[in-house]
Amino acid sequence: MTIDATVPNVARMYDYYLGGYHNFAADREAAEKILAIFPDTPAAARTNRRFMQRVVRHLGEAGVRQFLDIGAGLPTQGNVHEHTDGRVVYVDNDPVAVAQARTLVEDDERVSVALADLREPEALLADPHVAGHLDLAEPVAILLVSILHFIPDEADPWGLIARLRDATAPGSHLVVSHLTLDGVDAAAVQQGQQVYRRTNAPIVPRPRDAILRLFDGYELLEPGLVWIGDWRPGPGEDQVSHGYGAAGVKH
Ligand SMILES: C[S@@+](CC[C@H](N)C(=O)[O-])C[C@H]1O[C@@H](n2cnc3c(N)ncnc32)[C@H](O)[C@@H]1O
Repeated sequence: MTIDATVPNVARMYDYYLGGYHNFAADREAAEKILAIFPDTPAAARTNRRFMQRVVRHLGEAGVRQFLDIGAGLPTQGNVHEHTDGRVVYVDNDPVAVAQARTLVEDDERVSVALADLREPEALLADPHVAGHLDLAEPVAILLVSILHFIPDEADPWGLIARLRDATAPGSHLVVSHLTLDGVDAAAVQQGQQVYRRTNAPIVPRPRDAILRLFDGYELLEPGLVWIGDWRPGPGEDQVSHGYGAAGVKH
């Protein structure tokens, strides 16, 4: 495994926002630059984590038994498998995140971890850690939580999702949270993008209609595509949202 600790890495920057320790000096420096522009980033990251946890619990109550969490990131507290007793596969293209996730869940036979890339959906689904752990003839919830804004338009995130959708059974779900520019000062956005341009995965926030189109072929569950913190919020949760979130079902 090769790790370049000198290039800021988005998985490790996110870990730093969430108060984790799996990060290097270059990650912390870049993250601090973002915090200087957007001081509420840690709160938004926590809102995003809680969104993911609420959706997983909701889908579990609705009978979903399989979860494919793509762009799962570093094993920060409150992972998907802690919110369901179904089967879970964590996928990331970052070897550090994958190695850490494996250490965390190696004793749990409900959980598997794959090193794979969302930009190659067929290879991802065929990976033995995915195909050997999930039954794709049965419904599966695909989680793309805070990952799609690292996929540029040229890589066609809409087409990638369509390929995943077509490979999954009716009754399968799609869960997305996605960073937006809506309502944010343009100069601040530009500064933030400049910081991410020097990381391993430049960031592409999108407007609401482009995010909504990711759900083509899915019926949105209530309350639709909303600010991340507004998706069935629990009592007393702080609600700093830097993007939109939704869950949909394929019929
Ligand atoms: C901001 S973190 C999100 C972590 C977690 N899903 C959450 O929302 O709390 C984004 C993750 O996506 C991963 N990622 C970025 N591009 C990817 C790709 N093309 N394929 C797989 N994972 C990717 C990064 O390595 C990182 O771990």
